[in-house]
Amino acid sequence: MNKQKIIETIAHLREKIRHLDEAYYNNDAPLVTDAEYDALFEQLKTLESEYPDLITADSPTQRVGGTPSQSFASIVHPTPMLSLDNAFDEHSVEAFDKRAKERLGLIDGEALNYFCEPKLDGLAISLVYEQGQLVTGATRGDGMRGENVTQNIRTIHDIPLSIKSSNPPKYIEVRGEIYLPKAQFEAINRRAEATGEKIFMNPRNAAAGSLRQLDPKITAKRKLRFFAYQLVANNDFGDTHEKQLAQLASWGFQVCALNRLTLGIQGCLQFYKEILEERDNLPFEIDGVVYKINDLVLQKRLGFISRAPRFALAHKFPAQEKSTTVLAIEFQVGRTGILTPVARLNPVLVGGTMVSNATLHNVHEMRRKDIHIGDTVVIRRAGDVIPEVVMALTAQRPAGAKMIKAPTHCPVCHTPVVFESGDTTIRCPNGWRCQAQLQESIAHFVSRKAMDVRGLGGQVILQLMVAGFLKTPIDLYTLTEEQLLSIERMGKKSAQNLLNAIEKSRTVSLSKLIYALGIREVGETTAKVLAERYPDADLSGLQGASLDALQAIPDIGPVVAKHIVSYFSDPQHKRMVHQLLNYCDVVVPKKTQLTHTSPWTGKSFVITGTLSGFSREEAKEALLQMGAIVHNSLTSKTDYLLVGDKPGSKLEKAREKGIMIVDEVAFLDMLSHST
Ligand code: IVH
Repeated sequence: MNKQKIIETIAHLREKIRHLDEAYYNNDAPLVTDAEYDALFEQLKTLESEYPDLITADSPTQRVGGTPSQSFASIVHPTPMLSLDNAFDEHSVEAFDKRAKERLGLIDGEALNYFCEPKLDGLAISLVYEQGQLVTGATRGDGMRGENVTQNIRTIHDIPLSIKSSNPPKYIEVRGEIYLPKAQFEAINRRAEATGEKIFMNPRNAAAGSLRQLDPKITAKRKLRFFAYQLVANNDFGDTHEKQLAQLASWGFQVCALNRLTLGIQGCLQFYKEILEERDNLPFEIDGVVYKINDLVLQKRLGFISRAPRFALAHKFPAQEKSTTVLAIEFQVGRTGILTPVARLNPVLVGGTMVSNATLHNVHEMRRKDIHIGDTVVIRRAGDVIPEVVMALTAQRPAGAKMIKAPTHCPVCHTPVVFESGDTTIRCPNGWRCQAQLQESIAHFVSRKAMDVRGLGGQVILQLMVAGFLKTPIDLYTLTEEQLLSIERMGKKSAQNLLNAIEKSRTVSLSKLIYALGIREVGETTAKVLAERYPDADLSGLQGASLDALQAIPDIGPVVAKHIVSYFSDPQHKRMVHQLLNYCDVVVPKKTQLTHTSPWTGKSFVITGTLSGFSREEAKEALLQMGAIVHNSLTSKTDYLLVGDKPGSKLEKAREKGIMIVDEVAFLDMLSHST
């Protein structure tokens, strides 16, 4: 690029970033995803670092955030509120550590202590306390001046109005992050939708919008939360960041329980890995982790450059959001006949995976989000779940973008659909006569957690269906070698392997068989509960169970109970169960001798963290042997949380919910009392 071109590119980037900042900070209405913003910002920063003579004082890289809004009085921060430098890969993290060590004159091999914290995705706030009393709360604004939001801050329960101490310090400034738990965010959006108000794009955006309300009563209703992460410029309460946070906690501030002191950058990278894994289970959004040199003397020696400290670094997680365009909206038919609207997208890489389809959940969601064909939409991937369309960037909607109507007929078998649950759910009532439902049912039937027929993929299932060999999942057990060989690209060896796998699947545990039936909302855990409660190999108990009897089982609610009863009253299902039992050798659960004596029978457990003497599977097995039930996530019905090393957010959540916490020692004790 020649210099003129670079000048133009820089000018263009600055203009674009300013425009995005305006929308983000002042209108609480982002125009692009965070990842896209970060990419533009990084591009500008890189160009400016290559051509420092082109840096101007008004470049967005030289400022911290948006200008304070006109609606609130402004406050000058006693100490500027800066930002953090971002790293997006391990290499940059290592380079940061190396730079810091060089500046501090440490010898090679010496490791620094880092305090690691999740990077909370909310908004930064500065709180000033005089004689132990909260006097002001201010947003970051442009880093020098923020907005006085004291009245609104006072409605947040996590923020102490006076600090807990018999001898409070004369003056302190505490900084931290105001955030909105994911559940609260969803509730706000549901309410907003009902009243026709603005839907928020993400919890941070919703937190900012909730805080910057002119009426504090509205803020109060939003149930914002707060984590403290810094005591500003004050070494009276310990010489490390860790000690300062401990002091803040003892004064009554909330400090994130996931924070951890580590040695060296390897410890930081390990922290990053663990938190990234836990990310989707946390009750609040985070977008990375922050590493801070723990020693305050070293922090001071390193100081700051322009907008960020040299002693701290944000290590951002890979973006899970991207924007792309909707090419079409189609309805996909699932195993139980439910039609789900799916957006076909211009393929886009999100967090390392190419995404070309994203779910819109149901027609109600599609309308709520106002998604049109042709729209630019934000796509989110979270963990292993199917990518979803978060929102349409309606400002970019092209002329002629089309809204889609709910279908009247099944797109696969053309049967008229039925509308359920207040018209939110659209269902094809054609059962296995609908090819889509049959294919999905067979895929479920043969899956690992069900009959576990190895080596039978979607393509072969489809070929066997088209050839007319599979009309129900049970037809698998009458497949012949000749039939298999008539399928395109099926060799003798594969056919034999498949027949062996089918043969092997005939010996099956009762719970897997129940799961394989594909009863609506009966997942693996519910199937286990049912097998324990009705342990007969011919399913007679379960088939004859009444609604009341089912609902009396802990863990089974009225909806699931209804699905079970309705499943067994359908003649097609009755036939399938009857035939299936003829083909299979069902292994019933071993009756634990403890069924009547164990105090853990029927108790619900969740496991978190690493146990030293057991793998998770072993612990789960031991609990099942005691008659307990093991779930993956905490609910109000969880009785115990079994906690290993590095427990993650579940521990905090369990404490909040008042769930009994069992550590490994207590667990061993339980085991020894159960045998
Ligand atoms: S420390 C000198 N710790 O990230 C900056 N910031 O890009 C000191 N943030 O404005 C900030 N979690 O809003 C710090 N554990 C954490 C954080 C955190 C989130 C936010 C904060 C800040 C931005 C910096």
